[in-house]
Amino acid sequence: MTAAPFPHRHLLGIEGLSADDIRFILDEAEQWVDFNRQPRKHDKRLEGLTQFNVFFENSTRTLFSFEAAGKRLGATVLDFRVAGSSVHKGESLIDTALTLDAMRPDVMVVRHQSTGAPAEVAAAVDCAVINAGDGTGEHPTQALLDALTIRRRVGRIEGLKVVICGDIRHSRVAKSNLLSLPRLGAEVRVAGPPELLPSPESLGGIPVFSDFDESIEGADVVMMLRIQRERLESGLSVSLEDYHARYGLTSERLARAAPDAIVMHPGPMNRGVEIDGELADDRSRSAILDQVEMGVAVRMACLDILTRERRGG
Ligand code: CP
Repeated sequence: MTAAPFPHRHLLGIEGLSADDIRFILDEAEQWVDFNRQPRKHDKRLEGLTQFNVFFENSTRTLFSFEAAGKRLGATVLDFRVAGSSVHKGESLIDTALTLDAMRPDVMVVRHQSTGAPAEVAAAVDCAVINAGDGTGEHPTQALLDALTIRRRVGRIEGLKVVICGDIRHSRVAKSNLLSLPRLGAEVRVAGPPELLPSPESLGGIPVFSDFDESIEGADVVMMLRIQRERLESGLSVSLEDYHARYGLTSERLARAAPDAIVMHPGPMNRGVEIDGELADDRSRSAILDQVEMGVAVRMACLDILTRERRGG
């Protein structure tokens, strides 16, 4: 196991991480990929430690993989159920966080609809905090699992051409990947309808395309995103059929990319809208289920690394 230090108490975003920090987590995660492929998946390094999953927004992949990750490392994992909680009696985020922290968890995994909420929690509590997605802010473990998926499928990240297409404006996945992939040496561009793109100034020089066909030329990685209807203030101006015709990933469109380009999607996906269902299921091109698998390994690495100091190691 690598013994390099990770100089952070929390994992709140890619923004605060150096390329070495990111590579450190990815290198640590490699061991858990192999471990998770064994029939018996029980490590004791987090035995006696408590992990609280505090999700204010829905989740399948992130919540369940954090639960699997903590349990496979031996932690006691408890899910805070917002639906039946005193949040619905008006208790604030910080009062909720302080209340949970008084029960002395060692790590809190927080997803919240407000950008910056996990950072506010981290400033108030004693335990380590992991951002599991905040509003239109960041989703750092998604970017880490995406990087691990690319590294394992393609063999490297440096020098790759990556196109991210879809609702970039509302996507915390895009935001975290736009921080991590260039930091790891990839050449990233974004594509989508102008109404779903952020201002070019906010992208810090990342090339922006409204023509997906142009953006996909020669790409090694094509990352598709869903339209985040829950964050759209008014509806989309084009029909879903028109959206698919202009921005949906099909085999024909993928033929413009590099011959062995891989297809990614953080999920949940809308088949027939941003991605053709058959292409999503073609494991020779689609890395979508690899992303899910890498999610458990990356989250195990994050839980292990962030609890090392309190475990005295
Ligand atoms: N990629 C992702 O965050 O999926 P979930 O919303 O299902 O966790």
